[in-house]
Formats: sequence, structure tokens, C-alpha cells
Amino acid sequence: MNILVTGGGGYIGSHTCKALSIAGIVPVTYDNFSTGHRSLVKWGPCVEGDIRDRDCLDQVLQDYEIEGVIHFAAVAYVGDSALDPGKYYDINVNGTITVLNAMRAANVKSLVFSSSCATYGNPDRTPISEASPQSPISPYGRSKLMGETIINDFCDAHNISAIFLRYFNAAGADRQLESGECHNPETHLIPLAIKVGQRELDQIVVFGNDYDTPDGTCIRDYVHVTDLADAHVRAIFRCGLKKVEAFNLGAGFGTSVREIIAAVSKMANFEIEVGYGERRKGDPTKLVSSIDKARDQLGWNPVNSDISTIVNDAWRWNFFDRGQ
Ligand code: UFG
Repeated sequence: MNILVTGGGGYIGSHTCKALSIAGIVPVTYDNFSTGHRSLVKWGPCVEGDIRDRDCLDQVLQDYEIEGVIHFAAVAYVGDSALDPGKYYDINVNGTITVLNAMRAANVKSLVFSSSCATYGNPDRTPISEASPQSPISPYGRSKLMGETIINDFCDAHNISAIFLRYFNAAGADRQLESGECHNPETHLIPLAIKVGQRELDQIVVFGNDYDTPDGTCIRDYVHVTDLADAHVRAIFRCGLKKVEAFNLGAGFGTSVREIIAAVSKMANFEIEVGYGERRKGDPTKLVSSIDKARDQLGWNPVNSDISTIVNDAWRWNFFDRGQ
């Protein structure tokens, strides 16, 4: 079975390509390499193209006799989306419509869509279930919710089956160091804290310590990227059972910014230096996932998602990646 993986050169995309190939599926990466990396495309064919380029999509769907699509390709920075919303709606919404139209024309019926906990906004209560109200507070979150809405309509009209995977905070790296996080610029908490721990950076700035949480810093649900990859394989095998389904993917528990910094300090064997800054626009106070549905219906279990395993794998990857 050949599956098109848009954004297969990205962080979660590349780990998913590895998991697909282990499951006997050929992942055909489709990436414009604006943020993805050719060096991370190791598990199947690679086609350079943009998700807004309909001709190129038509060609790849036909050439590789694609049976399903996992659609990762997107821009995904909450803070940046508030500064440049047009980019987010163009790539995340127009891009998704183009992928859907190409699927429709090629008669491809299965879609796994990268969605986000950012679609829930600032939830009234945690843990967040899939039935919780979706009311995003950033253009990024809104662009992902629009993607879900549009996909829903295509599924109704054109007999497509879709699974939305709403990721919480992806973190960690492949245990065999075949892939890992390499964003440029890096803005995510764990890799930045690790760069301080490995003395590439002087300090980590905490964005706000006056949140209504026990230690005043934001709480997130960090999930190991290898566990996320495994969920995509399960989702692609499950596609077709229902018209549309959504699954939250997190570890099922929250960790504060300070707790992450403490875990990285422990790994580094010294107290990493912390500065305190303003709150970052678009940051919800607390996002923690209920993972009951993914456990029950996908048979998924985030076995790698304890904080020490995440930090350990991300630490090894950062050390390895610096030497490249
Ligand atoms: N943070 C800092 N200092 C930093 C970087 C981050 O204090 O230098 C804080 C953030 O304010 C936030 C937490 O660390 O409270 C995690 O921030 P990340 O940037 O690592 O991750 P986000 O929660 O912003 O983003 C992630 C994904 C998005 C997803 C979002 C949902 O990258 O794709 O979760 O909130 F949409």
C-alpha cells in the first residue's frame, strides 16, 4: 500500500514515515522543504512539491497509485500565527482544500489529518476530551479547525473517510537517532532548554510566570513523537470504518514549564539558567489531553511519553544533530 505523506520531511512526518515502513506501508513523501529536511526522508520515495500546487499533487497521486493520504504539511507556530495570519490561512486552509480536491479527482478515499489541541483554545476544564468545545484563540488553531470543518464537508459530499489526530505537544526523538526535531529557528520549550543544558545557549526565557497554575507557568501535555507516529499507522489502518473521527493524542498528564526545565537541569547535571519574560500571545494556560478514546478505539498506548524518556531522547538527538 502506498500512502502519500505531505510534510514527510518534517518532525512528526518523518517519524511517521519510519513507523509506516515498519508496518509494511510505502510512505511517499511530498514536501516543499520550506521547513522539512531532505535528510529526514529515508523510508520511501520523495517528491518535492507544494500542497497548493494542484498539478503536482495530481501527478504524484497518479504516478504512485496512492491509496490514502496523511496530511501533515502546514505551518505550526502559535506565536508566529498571530503575527502573520495570512500565511497560516493560505498554507493550512488553501493547502488542505487543494489536497482534498486532488484526492477527490484521483478517487483517494482515506485521509489522516494533523490537527491540534490548539483547536480547543483555553478549555473550561481538563482533561480535554474530543467532545470538548473547540474555540481556538490563535490563527494557527483557527486554521486547523477550519481544516477539520472543510474535511468534514468533503467526507459528507464525496464519500471520503477522515481521521483527525489532535496532537498535544510533540516532543522527543527517534530512539535510534534516525530522526528528531530540527526547526529553524527553534522556538519550542524542550529543545531550547536542552540547548541551554548543552551550553549552546545561555538561558531559557519563561514566557509568563503569573498563570493560574500551581507554579505560575503554563501546563502542557508532552507526547513522545514515536508514540504519535504509531498512532498514525493505527489511524491509516482504521480509516474507512467511520466517515469522520477525531482522536486526542497526548500523554494524558500535564507538565509545567518549570517542571520541564527542572527535568532538563537534572539531565544536564546543573541548574540551567532561567529568565522571565512576558506572556506569549496565543498561549493557553493549561492543555491536558484525555486519551481514553485513542486507547479504546485505536488501541494506542503512549508508552514512551514519560518526561524523563522524552528529555533523554531529545537530549541525545540534540547532541547528535549538532555534530552533523
Ligand atoms: N515556552 C517558554 N519559553 C520558550 C518556549 C516556550 O516559556 O522559550 C513555553 C510556552 O509559553 C508554552 C510552553 O513553553 O507555555 C510550550 O511551548 P512550545 O512552544 O514548546 O509549544 P506550544 O505549546 O506553543 O506549541 C505546541 C505545538 C503547536 C500546538 C500547540 C498547542 O508546537 O503546534 O502546542 O498549544 F498547536
